[in-house]
Amino acid sequence: MSAPEGRIEVEVVAIEAAADGIVEIELAARAGDRLPDWEPGAHIDLILPSGLVRQYSLTGEPAAATWRVAVLREEAGRGGSRWIADRLQVGARLKVAGPRNHFALPPANGAAAPLVFVAGGIGITPIVPLAAQALGEGREVRVHYCGHEGRMAFLDRLHGLYGDRFTVHISERGDRLDIDALVVDAAASGAAIVTCGPARLLDAIGETARAHDVPVHLERFESGALPAPVWQGPFEVELALTGVTIEVPPEISVLAAAEAAGALVLSSCSEGTCGTCETPVLDGVVDHRDSILSPAQRERNDTMFVCVSRAACPRLVLEL
Ligand code: FES
Repeated sequence: MSAPEGRIEVEVVAIEAAADGIVEIELAARAGDRLPDWEPGAHIDLILPSGLVRQYSLTGEPAAATWRVAVLREEAGRGGSRWIADRLQVGARLKVAGPRNHFALPPANGAAAPLVFVAGGIGITPIVPLAAQALGEGREVRVHYCGHEGRMAFLDRLHGLYGDRFTVHISERGDRLDIDALVVDAAASGAAIVTCGPARLLDAIGETARAHDVPVHLERFESGALPAPVWQGPFEVELALTGVTIEVPPEISVLAAAEAAGALVLSSCSEGTCGTCETPVLDGVVDHRDSILSPAQRERNDTMFVCVSRAACPRLVLEL
């Protein structure tokens, strides 16, 4: 797994505790360099010295000279967040790929379409800059933040920006988010919902929003169940940059088949949630099975996530 193109080196210039189990890290370009531009909703891939690749949403100001990410130390994870929380030090150099953005603010549906942001746990990280962007555009904004006592970052900043339009829901206090009431309110005011967090929260919001015809824009950290493939048999994939055509049998992912043929593909989650393995599609029809693209983005058929998505036709041509 490697993809040297598009990587940059950054330096860790600050590490601060943002809440219990959450550290906020500030990254700067090397002297004389400038970090790439980004828009709210974007994330970067941090490439750790072990080779693990981890995705973190950018939480700071797009105009700032440095990047900020917040990392939740996950005891049950594969070790990336524990290494960052326990071992990473100011002055360390890291490789980064991106930024990429699959969670940009939905366009205004009318002049002042209100937006209701809902974050669950560390899902607050993309919501912070997205809500700030919406506020800056003069849109009506409400922010709901669900989490556990002591483990919620950015509370002071969010209270300061949104005042009584910011509501905290802390499980231990029993003030859980009333999803039905939230969606009914959104429907009454013509608002769209923008949400990021655990799958259970997103599934519940998505289902309720659909029932009330409320637009919902979400980013998942965990995958849902994969549907059966559209194309059941083997299919061909031409790797245009590598110069070979491979056959992908039903039991193998396009990612695994492409890597076995020598293609360079950066990947991380292998479940269609992180966006790291995004690959341009040059020809053919894709069976999108990721948790990232919106229906409109799927319709464009110009990109795919090769760890889970497959062909919906006998042959694909990919820019790999
Ligand atoms: S590796 Fe995460 S979406 Fe493919």
